[in-house]
Amino acid sequence: MPALTDRFGRVHDYLRISVTDRCNLRCLYCMPEEGVAFTESENLLTYDQIVEVVEAGAKLGISKLRITGGEPLIRPGLDGLIGRLSAIPGIKDIALTTNGVFLAKQAEALRAAGLNRVNISLDTLDSARFRFIARRGELKRVMEGIEAAAAAGFRPIKLNCVLLKGVNEDEIAAFLKMAYEQPMHVRFIEYMPIGHADDNWRKHYLPLTRVLEVAEQEGYSFQRGPNVRGNGPSEDYVLEGGRGTFGLIHPISDHFCSNCNRLRLTADGSIKPCLYWVDELNAKDALGDPDAMRRLFLRAMDIKPENHEMAAKLANDALSHVPTERRMSQIGG
Ligand code: GTP
Ligand code: 5AD
Ligand code: SF4
Repeated sequence: MPALTDRFGRVHDYLRISVTDRCNLRCLYCMPEEGVAFTESENLLTYDQIVEVVEAGAKLGISKLRITGGEPLIRPGLDGLIGRLSAIPGIKDIALTTNGVFLAKQAEALRAAGLNRVNISLDTLDSARFRFIARRGELKRVMEGIEAAAAAGFRPIKLNCVLLKGVNEDEIAAFLKMAYEQPMHVRFIEYMPIGHADDNWRKHYLPLTRVLEVAEQEGYSFQRGPNVRGNGPSEDYVLEGGRGTFGLIHPISDHFCSNCNRLRLTADGSIKPCLYWVDELNAKDALGDPDAMRRLFLRAMDIKPENHEMAAKLANDALSHVPTERRMSQIGG
């Protein structure tokens, strides 16, 4: 049995690493407009420390990494970290999730450093609406980032679109058209109630069954396809005759926890066994002691819950654990 097997038989080979909780945007589903209390830079894991945690994880079977934030591209020297991570024995795939604003300048260096894949957030194709959702930044920069990623040779390029009722649901058809006409993998994501005001979530949560309805209305032929190169929970679809594909990430309407293969490392040094619950383990306590770090990973397997209960939360049912108070930007998605 692989070392990182939890109580429910799930094998873990994927670590999501947040390198900063800061971000240049303030997406309404992620962070309040005024921001949050950010981790002081001296309390962030250093790159040396991140490498140490990953070395311990790799010995236990972690082979896939994803760099997240906040916005990871605002932390200086990220290409250097990626180069070091890619040299760790056992690490086979390194990906990045970014809002794309600073990608145009860095895409080539990241690729040269050993980054394999990029996922870019794109919730709207309209500049004014971008300002409404992200509250800062410019859509144009994101589009330039997407182009630069393609030019640097990243394939596939995945676009993450969090669907928000009453905000961007009228763009489902436009995103499907984009997936049909361009070699992009467009993923629609259900808005999750991670560490923030429930009122906003209840108002804007939209089940992704809506995407399949729109795809039918628009006259597309589509069917479930093979997983587009990746390690996450997306359910992927092929559009007949199309150049790209689309995917659905639906943690609430149909949760995927039985296949969960991932752990998270927060920028301030906690290992989180599950995105949703409060439980976490402090990796800083184990730094400098490979055996303690090993035990920490194994302990994460012991405390990992069977699933989240976001649907129960929507129905106002009692929850079995305490949800995290961290915002998405403080976990890394
Ligand atoms: P691939 O390796 O390309 O499949 O990436 P990914 O989908 O794992 O990563 P990405 O950072 O692009 O995440 C896309 C969305 O999936 C984000 O909204 C994440 O929060 C969400 N997600 C990823 N893993 C989990 C999970 O374990 N539970 C839940 N509820 N959501 C997740
Ligand atoms: N619900 C769903 N997805 C979210 N993301 C950030 N916050 C939420 C949320 N509350 C997405 C971002 C990014 C990825 C890391 O997580 O859009 O693509
Ligand atoms: Fe920043 Fe990403 Fe959160 Fe948006 S979703 S505020 S881009 S960390």
